[in-house]
Amino acid sequence: MEHQPAASIFLALQESALGHLMRSSPVMYPAAEILHIMGFVLLVGSIAALDLRLLGIGQTIAIQPLARLLLPLSRVGFIVAIAMGFLLFSADAAHVVGNPAFQAKLLLIAAALVNVAIAHVGPWRKLGTWQGEAPAGAKATALASLLLWLGALTAGRLIAYL
Ligand code: HEM
Repeated sequence: MEHQPAASIFLALQESALGHLMRSSPVMYPAAEILHIMGFVLLVGSIAALDLRLLGIGQTIAIQPLARLLLPLSRVGFIVAIAMGFLLFSADAAHVVGNPAFQAKLLLIAAALVNVAIAHVGPWRKLGTWQGEAPAGAKATALASLLLWLGALTAGRLIAYL
């Protein structure tokens, strides 16, 4: 589907040496897409596991050690997904930027990051004082996190169809 003409910054990125490399190299784009997928699988997989525990699933597993294991993994996944996503984007920036699924994905990622900030300045600051189950505030941000990251995944997959 043809989208609105893109701002020059996206045209400049697409026509940059990086954009040309991502389009001309037989391996760069497939490698970036494979790593993009590995990145968001690690990100969303680890976050979803922690969110489900916060929502009360798997109550025999203590929350604090699980968080200490999964949060660093989610950060690594996030950095890989963002970096590889940018490489994929550079190949066709002027076109992909107008894609409604791509725009929705970036909005959902931004909302998910705001939710992370709210969780960390709110309920998570008292993580050490939680008795067994997560307090209501942490359950609320966990539910929002689950819906927003699964939404970003869905929007990401729809990019190819719009
Ligand atoms: C960090 C959260 C992110 C998630 C969860 C995510 C998720 C996805 C998913 C599920 C796909 C479809 C993959 C496929 O089926 O092949 C995808 C494709 C894509 N993503 Fe991301 N993404 C993220 C970040 C980004 C960022 C930050 C960018 C760019 C700045 C980006 C650019 C792209 C592009 C251009 C495609 C299309 C690739 C293609 O169809 O060839 N992604 N993403």
